[in-house]
Parts: sequence; structure tokens; C-alpha cells
Amino acid sequence: MSSLNVCVSDFEEKARKVLPKAVYDYYCSGADEQKTLTDNVVAFKRWRLIPRVLRDVSTVDLSTWFLGERLSMPVCVAATAMQRMAHHQGETATARACQAVGTGMMLSSWATSTIEEVMSATTAAGGPGGVLWLQLYIYKDRALTLSLVRRAEQAGYKAIFVTVDTPYLGRRRDDMRNRFQLPAHLSMANFSTASLAFSEDSYGDDSGLAVYVAKAIDPSLSWDDITWLKANTHLPVILKGILNGEDAVLAVNCGADGIVVSNHGARQLDGVPATLDVLEEVVQAVDGRCDVYLDGGVRQGTDVLKALALGAKAVFIGRPVLWGLACEGEQGVVEVLELLKKELQLAMALSGCRSIAEVTRSLVRRFEFTSRI
Ligand SMILES: Cc1cc2nc3c(=O)[nH]c(=O)nc-3n(C[C@H](O)[C@H](O)[C@H](O)COP(=O)(O)O)c2cc1C
Repeated sequence: MSSLNVCVSDFEEKARKVLPKAVYDYYCSGADEQKTLTDNVVAFKRWRLIPRVLRDVSTVDLSTWFLGERLSMPVCVAATAMQRMAHHQGETATARACQAVGTGMMLSSWATSTIEEVMSATTAAGGPGGVLWLQLYIYKDRALTLSLVRRAEQAGYKAIFVTVDTPYLGRRRDDMRNRFQLPAHLSMANFSTASLAFSEDSYGDDSGLAVYVAKAIDPSLSWDDITWLKANTHLPVILKGILNGEDAVLAVNCGADGIVVSNHGARQLDGVPATLDVLEEVVQAVDGRCDVYLDGGVRQGTDVLKALALGAKAVFIGRPVLWGLACEGEQGVVEVLELLKKELQLAMALSGCRSIAEVTRSLVRRFEFTSRI
């Protein structure tokens, strides 16, 4: 009998055993010395929950509004590239799992399934499609960039999450050592032009993805490009990858509809703070003018609760979804999401919170890091 998965790290342990090493390394790794990778997780341990008692928690409602959509919980799926390396159904399985659980999915520009295919996976049984958002990289080729946006609009995606922390790819040492590249039977499905297909024979000492980014993604991006994007779509535009109050204010001034406090799962600039540690600064700078979300290191229900208490409207998870997908495809992703939902529900009940609105700043306190717990 296979052992039960009672926490996210159980899924990771199993995924590590079933995935080819280069794929596991690509999914798992952070940049350089991976200091920020560790810190993203450890930061949650620096904050403690201060529960309230005797509040009749016989029912706890986790549902929340997210950009006009009702979600079953404030935990959504972050964009992670190339999901068909984890399971042959890849992003389509993830989208169906999110729909089953009642949450939303951010599809990577670098998905191994097309924008249309992923939406169709959620409409196959009839009824409305899932809540899908497109993560956008801004390419040097602006016509190509806009074609992605148009396709998302036409397919019924609800928002564009533009990634602002990747003018170049971070140095991920395992990927360099592994000469990481997408397996030959897969492709970045949203691009048909040969020049953008991800296939290189010789990378020097770099990973194939770093070479691709240097060729295709625009390192000259500036705030004007956000204004340009806003003027070119009717969808909400959310900036993914902000880590301080100054940039948050600039984002609001550019008309951003939301901000994701994110360090790209610690895969870009090593040595930046854990996202939880800068969340409050961003929330205060924004001062209610747009929604603030967080990703990075969220691995259990109490992590979600702490991020909400510090002002996040919702959180996104990246790697945990890949672990679920690798273990058991769509069902594995459902299990990961349901696990986090159950953990969050219990954490809210034990804290005396009956709804997301009752999760407030007074629920958390920062303690100096005196132990390894
Ligand atoms: C394997 C992998 C691929 C990713 N691909 C993308 C991507 O294509 N676009 C993007 O904006 N972020 C990408 N990210 C970053 C995630 O969207 C998210 O910021 C991060 O995974 C959150 O941290 P967590 O994995 O600790 O939950 C990727 C992250 C991982 C782990």
C-alpha cells in the first residue's frame, strides 16, 4: 500500500523519486547559492500566530473574491513553465484540478500546452471554463507579445500577469551543470516560429533556457512598457515580481490592477529577501489602491494564514503543484490543493477566524529567530 501524503513535502519526496534528475533539478532549484530559496520557506517560521479563542468556529468560510471571481480559497496556482515534463497531460491536468477545487491558475507563457488547449480542458464537460490567467513575458518582438495577449482575451482568460523580474534568466547552477533543455518530444506550445522554438545544440556553460531568454526576452523593459501593455488590453494587468514599496507605488501609478510580491521562487536574484519579509512594506505603500498577492515558499495552511494576516489578498503556489502533478497528474494536483485547503481551514478555526475578512494583522507577530523550529 502506498503511503499517505499528509503534507506537501510528502508529495515532493515522491516526485523526486519519479522525475528524471534534470527535470527535478529544474523544478526545484533556485539561483546561485539558493540562500533566498531557503529563506522563502524559513521566513514563515519567523512569524507566529496569536490565536483568539471562544469564537464559535463551527463553520469556517475560506471563499474569497479574486479580480471579480469567487474562489473557494485564497490559494491559487502560480505560473510554472513546462508542466508536461512532470506529467504527460501537463498544464491541462493542472487547469482541470484547479477547476475541480474552485480556484484559479496562472498559465505560463512557456507552457507545454497552448493557451486555447488549456481553456478547452476546462470546458470539455460543458459549462463555463475555469478561472485562468495568462502569465506574460514581454518579448523583444512586441507583435508576438500582443498575439499572446489577444489569444488569452479570445480564449476567455481573466487577467494578464506580467513578469517583471526576468530581463535575463537567473543563474541556476544545477540547470547549467545538467545543460538543461526541454525534452525533444515537448515544445513551448504557444510559439510556432522556429526562431523561438526552444532547441539549441550548444549552450556554452549556460542552460538552454538562459540562452533562449537572452535571445527572445526584452531586457530593455521599463515602466513605459507597462503603460503600453495597459493601453493594449482590456484585461486587468498584474505585475509579478515586485519586492519593495517604491516599485509598488510606481506600479500603482502605471495603473497596475494588482501586484504579486514575488522573487520568482528564488530563481532570479539570489540574496533578495523572502517574500513574506517584504509583504507588509508593499501593502503599506500600495495603501489599498490595488490588490497585493504573494508567492514563494508557501507550503502549508499556516503559511497562507500568515501571508493573509500581513495583507496579501491571496497567495500562489508554484512547486507544490509540480510535485502533485508528477505524483499523480490531475488527481495529484487536486490532492495538493485540497490538502492546503484543509490545513488552512483548520488553522483559521484554531485561530478563531470564521472568514477571510476576520484574518487581520493582529493574528501574527514576528519573533526573532531563536531556534531551528
Ligand atoms: C519550475 C518553475 C518554473 C517557473 N516558471 C515560471 C514562468 O514561466 N513564469 C513566471 O513568471 N514564473 C515562473 N516561475 C515562478 C513561479 O511563478 C512562482 O513565482 C514561484 O514558483 C513561487 O514559489 P514556490 O515555488 O516556492 O511556490 C517558475 C517557478 C518554478 C519553480
